[in-house]
Amino acid sequence: MTALNTTARIAVIGAGAMGAGIAQVAAQAGHLVLLLDNRPGAAAQAIDGIDRQLGKRVEKGKLSADARTATLARLQAVESIDALADCALVIEAIVENLEVKRALLRQLEGICGEQCILASNTSSLSITSIAAQLERPQRLLGLHFFNPAPVMALVEIVSGLASDPALADCLYATAKAWGKKPVHTRSTPGFIVNRVARPFYAESLRLLQENVADCSTLDALMRDAGGFAMGAFELTDLIGHDVNYAVTCSVFNAYYGDNRFQPSLIQKDLVDAGRLGRKSGQGFYSYADGAERPTAKTTLSQRAVTTCVVEGDLGIANALIPRLREHTIDVTHRDGHGLLRVGDAVLALSDGRMACQRAQEDGLRNLILLDLAFDYGTASRIAISCAAGIDPGAFEDGVALLQQAGLRVSLLSDSPALAVLRTVAMLANEAADAQLQGVASAADIDLAMRAGVNYPQGPLAWADAIGPAHVLRVLEHLHASYGEERYRPSLLLRRRVAQGRSLHD
Ligand code: NAI
Repeated sequence: MTALNTTARIAVIGAGAMGAGIAQVAAQAGHLVLLLDNRPGAAAQAIDGIDRQLGKRVEKGKLSADARTATLARLQAVESIDALADCALVIEAIVENLEVKRALLRQLEGICGEQCILASNTSSLSITSIAAQLERPQRLLGLHFFNPAPVMALVEIVSGLASDPALADCLYATAKAWGKKPVHTRSTPGFIVNRVARPFYAESLRLLQENVADCSTLDALMRDAGGFAMGAFELTDLIGHDVNYAVTCSVFNAYYGDNRFQPSLIQKDLVDAGRLGRKSGQGFYSYADGAERPTAKTTLSQRAVTTCVVEGDLGIANALIPRLREHTIDVTHRDGHGLLRVGDAVLALSDGRMACQRAQEDGLRNLILLDLAFDYGTASRIAISCAAGIDPGAFEDGVALLQQAGLRVSLLSDSPALAVLRTVAMLANEAADAQLQGVASAADIDLAMRAGVNYPQGPLAWADAIGPAHVLRVLEHLHASYGEERYRPSLLLRRRVAQGRSLHD
């Protein structure tokens, strides 16, 4: 189905942060946009706000003055819902309350023509449920923009049980015509992004709770090794702990308490204390004037090493080898089981077992486990862990090797799957389960996580790069270590590994 023509009138109801942004996007794409809010004057104020935003872009040379004038001419504040009669698409972005949204949409059915498409920007309510009391439930879909709507590329096109697939296709094409990256998803709790992203926060919070490392170190690892734009603590400080905790609780409750989504007591404490993050001046970090963020912990070695031996295949960590060579380390190869030997130390990519456990089970003395890096060739930091009682000289050799390759080394306490590997394995597991349940296609899940929350790679493509069998092994070891359902591997992951297939196809 084709996109709505630019001659189609669009209405946006709710002139708050989201509604104003969505109205701007539609007007910039060439539609006449009517903006309505039940607070008198709010729609006009929002249009003034959009004008100021556009003005700043003109000053920066990012927008022509003509384009600003034309966009503004297409935005019209209205004070009565009756003015929306001729609209082809009405998008509601009002308060997140099921009954209020239902009442508004029922009212709209009596005002707009039968061909009008109704859309909700809800992030946590079920489209099926919002549509349930409509006369034409097939005409309601979710059109879930991300904040700020003019900047964020992703739009989730959400279909409820009754939604007409042809309208989903029309909204998909329309969002694309508006310069967005749309994805299709079924109306299930959290849709794609707010569901698949949960482990990003949850695993860091758990690592903190178990004293594996401090916030600064974990954040630095997510950025400098994981390739994420921000770590979980700085990001939740930015989002606001009240908002982030509420989303987690909503997804957790909607999945009947599945402990994959279990909220964190550490975050609840912050909310209870009013430490909501940046907006309150204190979250995991302090935002008081002059406050300095603690630096990430880096372990240093005084030694220098010149040679190492690679035994067998290091998996995705093979990408370290050229980097070692570039830093004048002589690397030799021999057969073996994925180990990197330097001096008396043995390094290996984590398989999800704790170092103490793997050292004992595999008979490896002086074992140092390596965490995942998004790109071992360019990462600036890497996490390691080792068993208590490692020979201090061997430990120094292991750290020296990584240090010499230009990596800052952060030592974590001995915990399963370290930090980045554990997080990415859980993100991929959640993405695989969403795919298994037909929430969205693999391609749309990966695109959603890249465009909606700026992940460096989609979780499914990332799992393929690591190797689905390795990801499964990591999850099985996490599951065995904790004995918790939270870490149960997705059936889809098991199936694909058994079939020798990738997750992304
Ligand atoms: P907001 O509080 O900034 O704006 C809501 C606006 O709707 C207010 O101006 C309010 O006066 C108006 N309003 C409330 N009830 C109304 C009614 N019955 N009729 C007309 N206007 C009414 O809220 P925000 O953040 O813009 O969120 C709006 C919707 O977008 C919610 O459903 C929210 O879940 C969703 N959303 C929010 C995101 C965010 O980051 N803030 C991201 C994605 C979706």
